[in-house]
Amino acid sequence: MAFATSQVVRGFSSSAVRNVVIKNVTIIGGGQMGAGIAQVAASTGHSVTLVDTSDDILKKSIKTIEGSLKRVVKKKFADKPEAGEEFIKKVVQNVSTSTDVESAVQSSDLVVEAIVENLKIKQDLFSRLDKLAPPHTIFASNTSSLSISDIASSTSRQDRFGGLHFFNPVPMMKLVEVIGTPATSQETLDSLLNFSKVLRKTPVSCKDTFGFVVNRLLVPCIMEAIRLYERGVGPWVPPGARQCPASCGKSMQAVSGG
Ligand SMILES: NC(=O)c1ccc[n+]([C@@H]2O[C@H](COP(=O)([O-])OP(=O)(O)OC[C@H]3O[C@@H](n4cnc5c(N)ncnc54)[C@H](O)[C@@H]3O)[C@@H](O)[C@H]2O)c1
Repeated sequence: MAFATSQVVRGFSSSAVRNVVIKNVTIIGGGQMGAGIAQVAASTGHSVTLVDTSDDILKKSIKTIEGSLKRVVKKKFADKPEAGEEFIKKVVQNVSTSTDVESAVQSSDLVVEAIVENLKIKQDLFSRLDKLAPPHTIFASNTSSLSISDIASSTSRQDRFGGLHFFNPVPMMKLVEVIGTPATSQETLDSLLNFSKVLRKTPVSCKDTFGFVVNRLLVPCIMEAIRLYERGVGPWVPPGARQCPASCGKSMQAVSGG
């Protein structure tokens, strides 16, 4: 069953929403985040190509995906183990792996980069991809702390470049920050927002500012927890901390030793 992003053109609105059809997704980096993004994209009917630097790493990524899917199936198909097995098979079939980035992006509608957090390495990768991917392909980075504009500056498609900031573990965490730079087109933003919804996530759009929204809130939250602890206010998790974005509650527990 394909849930892949469909083309939506709403002509009745003065600010028409136009989405690029996203069916083929290339994810670069098969680590913690890339494997999770591949899993949710494949589970929602996208054709996924997962790229990393070696076949051994990619084998590990597929194992991670299978392990995670088994946990999903245990809950979702508790009474129908055979249907669960079938679901895992279908999802894994939607993921192909490659160490050849050149061929991996040739029919890609969207490239999501989840490699090492290093500006120069990300820029080098996107500069290469820019020459290889079709003109319609949207590029997105999953960076947590780098500027999307700085990464996009290595390409000639800054209008088709944005941030897709997923949270760890990707299959569990609903929130996705969709980041637009001043150069990102409305069509690209709409496509990324729609893609996130098709993944059954809850996207929030945000500007390309340091820490985006969640980490911008999280850091002062952690600092305040440390201050509270230092002042001896209490070695407990303050009420409401668990409602803080991201893993704020968890961080406070770590600080308080709880
Ligand atoms: N881990 C988190 O909690 C988290 C949360 C949100 C965003 N992020 C961001 O996601 C990105 C990836 O983080 P991660 O935790 O998955 O890292 P990771 O180390 O688990 O995975 C990175 C993967 O990228 C591969 N890689 C490195 N350079 C490559 C290249 N040039 N081509 C192909 N593959 C390459 C590595 O072999 C590795 O498998 C980073 O930008 C990070 O800031 C991480």
